[in-house]
Amino acid sequence: MITDVAKLLGIDIGTSGCKVILINEKGTLLKQASAEYELLTPKPMWTEQRPEDWWTGVQSCLAEIGEKHPDAIGVTGQMHGSVFLDANDEVIRPALLWNDQRTVAECADIDSTIGHDELLRITCNPALTGFQLPKILWLKKNEPENFSRLKSLLLPKDYIRMKLTGVKATEVSDASGTGILEVPKRNWSSEMMSSLGLDPTVFPEVFESDEITGKTLESAFLDAGIPVVGGGGDQAAAAVGTGAVDIGTISVSLGTSGVVFTSIPGPIYDPNGAAHTFCHANRSWHAMGVMLSCGGALRWYRDVFCSGQSYDAISSEAIKSDIGAGGITFLPYLAGERAPHNDPFATGMFAGMTLASKKSDINRSVFEGITYGLLDCFRLLQGLGAESRTINVTSGGSKSDFWMQMIADAFEAPCNRLQVDEGPAFGAAILAGVGIGIWPTVTEACAQCVKSSQTIGPTGHDYSIPYERYRDLYRHARDWNVRR
Ligand code: XUL
Repeated sequence: MITDVAKLLGIDIGTSGCKVILINEKGTLLKQASAEYELLTPKPMWTEQRPEDWWTGVQSCLAEIGEKHPDAIGVTGQMHGSVFLDANDEVIRPALLWNDQRTVAECADIDSTIGHDELLRITCNPALTGFQLPKILWLKKNEPENFSRLKSLLLPKDYIRMKLTGVKATEVSDASGTGILEVPKRNWSSEMMSSLGLDPTVFPEVFESDEITGKTLESAFLDAGIPVVGGGGDQAAAAVGTGAVDIGTISVSLGTSGVVFTSIPGPIYDPNGAAHTFCHANRSWHAMGVMLSCGGALRWYRDVFCSGQSYDAISSEAIKSDIGAGGITFLPYLAGERAPHNDPFATGMFAGMTLASKKSDINRSVFEGITYGLLDCFRLLQGLGAESRTINVTSGGSKSDFWMQMIADAFEAPCNRLQVDEGPAFGAAILAGVGIGIWPTVTEACAQCVKSSQTIGPTGHDYSIPYERYRDLYRHARDWNVRR
């Protein structure tokens, strides 16, 4: 039974930690808790996490929230990761993550087995190192003893769903990022499974993001029988939380990764495969450009070059430099890059320094380089027909006035901050509400729950020349990166 004031729980399995929030049916935040866990980097270009650590984190957050009987739960989290389970649903090895780059050879195998154009037709996307499918092929080739024990394969948030409900299920938005979902049909591609010799029983059932996938088991932190809805991959769920569910609202997320996201009317894909076309959590589709190091590049810069300084101190120095950063160009490709280059070998770079260069120029070049990466993503979406009447900017970076103004100027569009900026967890909680009928559709839920708090308009400052210089630098660096 739904209480008169419904309480909805959103669980987000992020990369640096997990977050659990409780909201009411007006979208007001009631409680939140978070817990951190370790990122494993056993080799360069490899990233892993222990799924058991995610579950430990979620349990400690649920204990802190202390709400044993929310009306519904939505789950979200980092996309693309591979949770390998054995016959007893035990984790076989640490999960390979979204920013792991070890699967270059497996992507080439997928491309040649399925055919590049056919792959785009089926999945709307090319084979990418971050996606889940090449990770399974990597396991098969490199750890055959582990592969022989594989009975189920889950995405990160779906592992938490299984721990909560005992049900192995996924939903369309996250499943789109595996690389084996037939995105136009919103279900697995049995054709690809048979071409690649994969056992279909390993894959979980696919639901829509606002459908109930199961009910909670009795635990120390939750009563039995609470509906758990599909939820979404972190980007689709974040887009629900930022109202990017109609054509014309673009959301820009300034998290560890940077994402420019828009709803699209159908499964229209980029023939160059540079933007992702995935199923959206609102029963439609979306396109997005993902840069791998956004806030992550800024954090790296702070840790390596500005130890002990706050982000505010770094931007206060950056403001002293002008547009173009005194001629310095920064490429933020510290973990390779996805959009628009799909280049696992891309590296970070500072170029254009002289004896006249100042710390303020270098600081500014970092913000500019990341912003140009976002602009590259935005241009891709414009190529798919995206319009930008409204840009909603979210995640950590949106707190910076300096950075918001730079984005408004570079994108030549007004940028909004939102009243509730709780990221994917907020969208997951909204999806939970749609799942139990509090709102009839995701779009109506967003209209009621998502409100902007502040708009920063463009001032007419022109970033086109340093942006062109940024694009040119990558063109020159591409071959050097491979030869290195
Ligand atoms: C999306 C993506 C990242 C991860 C981690 O395609 O790779 O946003 O989901 O947040």
